[in-house]
Amino acid sequence: MISVEGVRKRFGPIVAVDDLTFEVHRGEVVGFLGPNGAGKTTTMRMLTGTLQPDEGTVRFEGKPISEHLTEAKRRVGYLPEANPLYDDMIVSEYLGYVGDLHGMSASEMRSGIASAVDETGIESVFYRPIGELSKGYRQRVGMAAAILHGPEILVLDEPTEGLDPNQRVDIRRLVVELGRERTVLLSTHVMQEVEATCSRLLILNKGRLVAEGSVHELLSRRADAVRYIVEVEGDDVAAGLGQLPGVHTARSEEVDGRLRVFLEVAHGEELRPEIFALAKSRDWTLWELHRERVSLEQVFRDLTREQMDEDASAIDPLPDVSVGSVGGPDAPAITPEEVVS
Ligand SMILES: Nc1ncnc2c1ncn2[C@@H]1O[C@H](COP(=O)(O)OP(=O)(O)O)[C@@H](O)[C@H]1O
Ligand SMILES: [Mg+2]
Repeated sequence: MISVEGVRKRFGPIVAVDDLTFEVHRGEVVGFLGPNGAGKTTTMRMLTGTLQPDEGTVRFEGKPISEHLTEAKRRVGYLPEANPLYDDMIVSEYLGYVGDLHGMSASEMRSGIASAVDETGIESVFYRPIGELSKGYRQRVGMAAAILHGPEILVLDEPTEGLDPNQRVDIRRLVVELGRERTVLLSTHVMQEVEATCSRLLILNKGRLVAEGSVHELLSRRADAVRYIVEVEGDDVAAGLGQLPGVHTARSEEVDGRLRVFLEVAHGEELRPEIFALAKSRDWTLWELHRERVSLEQVFRDLTREQMDEDASAIDPLPDVSVGSVGGPDAPAITPEEVVS
């Protein structure tokens, strides 16, 4: 539905967007992720026909938008970054004004505004001055303005920026709702934002596309997608664990006479039953078995490294299951606290 081919945009010496190519299919909710200055806003402006690329082409349904600008603007609704609104206008007035800008007739305007107000849940503030609204409601008004002319594509530039956590959840929910019948492209520099809302992510850094895929794909593509921390007392522990299928790195350290082994496994293979069975067959005492997944935050950090703070271990812990359920009645002595550490 949307195709971006070799798009480039420069501001003086700054290359804001550099040879960007990607596609967005009908019905997708695509997250545009990148640190500040990555080129998200510039790309969105080119997608909405607000800014012309220096090179390359943006097409909707195969038609270059530069040659079909009026049609492109009809098809796309745009919530710009920082959502500029007129504070002294009443919400109803503002929506009427936006409708006028789109050249809507009175009847188109009536039905467009009615359904936009309904979809974005702003009935209660319809006659209030914009300046009096909470940030969450301001965003809703911005979204109503973006959808009232009935666009199929919605471009939302950092729609949750500056909102408190509750408002963020509300707006995310609204984006999911709006995305049921539209193609949505939203930008953010906050990772957690996209897991709940987006079917696919495009990660931008310094004007370039550095990765794309679903959250699941981005996570499982990593060589260190999953790691196990196993603490065992017994003979030949490291060698035994290192030979389990799918393990590509086994590092170990001694802790209180036991061996703590870190096993890295690509593609998220589930090894806990095998680890447990091995411990049982070798008569090892299993003190701890813990699984961690690489976080999306970490993936993002690695892909956009030069612009981000570069501390942090390879994996943020996300404990998900204990070995207790695998053990059964014959399991070696493992206490619940140790298992779920
Ligand atoms: N109108 C402009 N004039 C000059 N530089 C700009 C302009 N718009 C964006 N830039 C620069 O282009 C780069 C990308 O900016 P932007 O697209 O706003 O990134 P993002 O939205 O990802 O934060 C930045 O270095 C920014 O300073
Ligand atoms: Mg921006």
